[in-house]
Amino acid sequence: MTTSRLLAVVTIIAVCVAAIVPGATAYTLIGHWRHIQNISDPHIQKLGQWAITEVNEVSPSGPLTFIKVTSGLQPAIALMEVEEYLLHINASRNDVINSYAAMLIEEDNTRKLDFFERDHS
Ligand SMILES: *[C@@H]1O[C@H](CO)[C@@H](O)[C@H](O)[C@H]1NC(C)=O
Ligand SMILES: *[C@@H]1O[C@H](CO)[C@@H](O)[C@H](O)[C@H]1NC(C)=O
Repeated sequence: MTTSRLLAVVTIIAVCVAAIVPGATAYTLIGHWRHIQNISDPHIQKLGQWAITEVNEVSPSGPLTFIKVTSGLQPAIALMEVEEYLLHINASRNDVINSYAAMLIEEDNTRKLDFFERDHS
């Protein structure tokens, strides 16, 4: 076994261990929600972009420009076929960047924006 092959095997084992130990590096439990581990996942970023588009359709103020999803939470125990996300999204309006919180629900092929508001923190 070459060194790089061995390293690959060790890495896979480490990832498996992290995935089964709650509170370990894989994710942190906050009540019944867990942090979305890989926030650069294209699906997560796309959801943030979609939320901004939805808001722009009904917003009386100028349009928001999506920048990125900066963090997010998902239920620790997902319901079958229903995905919930609480996302923190950075977006700009007139060159001013603000952070927003959005709650999204995905079920089959439908998406719903449950709430969207400025982060107050
Ligand atoms: C996170 O997702 C991105 C896009 O799919 C991928 O390139 C990257 O390797 C992932 N990072 C981790 C730590 O899984
Ligand atoms: C998101 O926006 C907030 C408010 O402008 C800023 O403080 C923060 O650094 C931004 N985060 C990222 C990752 O760009």
